[in-house]
Amino acid sequence: MNNKIFLASDHGGFSLKQTIFFFLKEKHLNVVDLGCKSIDPVDYPDYAQLLASKIEDNNSFGIIFCGTGIGISIAANRFSQIRAALCTSVEMASMSRKHNNANVLALGGRFITEELAKEIVFEFLNTKFEEGRHLVRINKI
Ligand code: RB5
Repeated sequence: MNNKIFLASDHGGFSLKQTIFFFLKEKHLNVVDLGCKSIDPVDYPDYAQLLASKIEDNNSFGIIFCGTGIGISIAANRFSQIRAALCTSVEMASMSRKHNNANVLALGGRFITEELAKEIVFEFLNTKFEEGRHLVRINKI
């Protein structure tokens, strides 16, 4: 996969973002860390907006993190080119790609283990959109 993968988090997702950054780097993927840079408190909408500014075409993915994954996914989904899916299982990650063509994965740094997060990320990045009837629905959003 040669697509660019942008990562962004607030402080609640910082630790898991770091884990996933090195996980993707080890796989020699084209990953860009947009911050935040520490566990010092920041506001997740700022990082959702920064990520949204980078996801302008069909060739890039984003992975966003906050404590629950909820706030940053709500904020990211305010941008029309973003389809962010908050996933807590491998199955949800799979469906978010197959049916929703999600281009951004949201994870809750305080709610899932590092191992599960890696499995979810792997599934998300390696599952294709099924198009067909799902494309019709997406075009109505
Ligand atoms: C920050 O404490 C926390 O509210 C944030 O990371 C996120 O969980 C919001 O949805």
